[in-house]
Amino acid sequence: MKILIIGRGGREHAIAWKLAQSSVHPQLFVAPGSDGMLSLPDTVRVPIEETDTAALLQFAKEKGVDLTVVGPEAALMAGIANAFQEAGLAIFAPTREAAAIEGSKQFAKELMEKYGIPTAKFRTFGDYASAKGYLDEVGAPIVVKYDGLAAGKGVVVAMTNEEADAALRDMLLDNHFGEGRVVMEEFLQGPEFSLFAMVNGEQVVPIGVAQDHKRAHDGDQGPNTGGMGAYTPVPIIPQEQVDWAVEHIMKPTAAALAKEGRPFCGILYGGLMLTQQGPKVIEFNARFGDPETEVVLVRLKSDLLQMILDILDHKPVTVQYNDQACLGVVMAADGYPGSYPKGLPIGGLDALPNIVFHMGTKCEDGRWLSNGGRVLCVVGQGDTLVEAQHNAYDGVAKISAEGLFLRKDIGWQAV
Ligand code: AMP
Ligand code: GLY
Repeated sequence: MKILIIGRGGREHAIAWKLAQSSVHPQLFVAPGSDGMLSLPDTVRVPIEETDTAALLQFAKEKGVDLTVVGPEAALMAGIANAFQEAGLAIFAPTREAAAIEGSKQFAKELMEKYGIPTAKFRTFGDYASAKGYLDEVGAPIVVKYDGLAAGKGVVVAMTNEEADAALRDMLLDNHFGEGRVVMEEFLQGPEFSLFAMVNGEQVVPIGVAQDHKRAHDGDQGPNTGGMGAYTPVPIIPQEQVDWAVEHIMKPTAAALAKEGRPFCGILYGGLMLTQQGPKVIEFNARFGDPETEVVLVRLKSDLLQMILDILDHKPVTVQYNDQACLGVVMAADGYPGSYPKGLPIGGLDALPNIVFHMGTKCEDGRWLSNGGRVLCVVGQGDTLVEAQHNAYDGVAKISAEGLFLRKDIGWQAV
C-alpha cells in the first residue's frame, strides 16, 4: 500500500511514524517531509510544497497512491481534499468547505450558535465604531479575535477595556492583518484540553485527549505560540466530561456540518475549556494538533492506518491505548514565536533513547541543524505522568543545542 503524507513538521513526523508501524507495512511518501522522517522504514521525500495541490494530485496519480493523509491547514485551505475527491482518490482530510470550521471563526461561531453547541457568547464586527460601541456596553474581560489566518497572533484576551480597545484599533483601524472582521467573545475560564476525533460525515470516533501549552514561557507567561509541549492522558479532565463533549460537542458539530452540505472527513480537533457549566468550545481545528499529535499517537495502540481505512469505509473503528502516559517537550529557537535564527547545530540526537519528532530540522553532512521556530519534540513515556515528564526532561538534557529554549513545566497542571 502506498501512502502520501502531506506536511513537514513534528505532527507529520508522528503521523508517518505511526503509519509506518502498521501491520500492512506501507510505502510512505512525504511531501515535502523532513530529513527526520527518513529514518522511518520505506519512506521517501517528495519535493512538492504542501499547497501545490495540482502537483500533489499529479504525483498521487502517477505513483498509484492508495491513500493520502494531510497534516497542515494550509493544504486544506488550498483545496487538496476537493481536488483528490474529484479525481476519485482516497484522502483523509476535509474539503475546503468543511475546513471552514477552522478557517473562519465567524462561520464556526455561527454554526455553533445555530445548532446549540456550547461556546462563548459572541458578536462579529467589521468596523471599529460598532465594535467599540459593543465594548463600551459589555466591558472587559473580553476576548477579541481576528477572523482569518493571523499566524496564531489574532487572539487577544483583554483583561481591561484599554487592552480590548487597543486590539480593536490594531485589527480594524490599522488593518494589521489585512482587511477583516473581528469576533468579540465572552471571557471563559477553566482548564483547556484538546479532543481529537476521527470523523467521516456523521461518524465520530474520539481518539485521544491531550493538553497543550500555548504560551512561550514557564507559568503560562509570554506570547502565544503553536504549542510548547503536550501530554496525554489528561487526568484533570474527568472521563465523564470528555464523554459529554463527544456527545454534545463533537457529534452535533459533525452532524451540523453534514446538514449544511459540508460533510467533514478527517480529524476534527475540539479546542475545549472545562468551565463551571461544563465543556465549551474555544475553537475548532480541522486537522491534527501540533504538538498534541506527538503524544496522542505514541499512546495509541491501535493501527492508525487500519483506523483511517475503516472510517473512510464507514466501518466501526477500534481504538485502544497502551497503558503508558506520554509527555512531549518542545525545543524552540530563541526568539520564537518572533523572529529566530536557523541553522543552529544540534548534538546528541542519535544516541537518545527517547522518541523524538523533528518539528524543524535538517541534516547536512550528517549533522543536525535547526530549520524552524519549533525544532524538536522530545517525548517521554512512563507508568505515570510524573515518570513520563521525568523521562522527557531526561532526554532533553542529553541534547546539546545552544540557542534553543524550552519550557521546564510541561504537564504542571497534572503532576
Ligand atoms: P484560539 O486561537 O481561539 O484557540 O485562542 C487562543 C487562546 O486564547 C486559547 O487557547 C485560550 O487560552 C484563549 N481564549 C480564546 N478564547 C477565549 C475565551 N472565550 N475565553 C477565555 N480565553 C480564551
Ligand atoms: N497545538 C495547537 C494547534 O495545533 O493548533
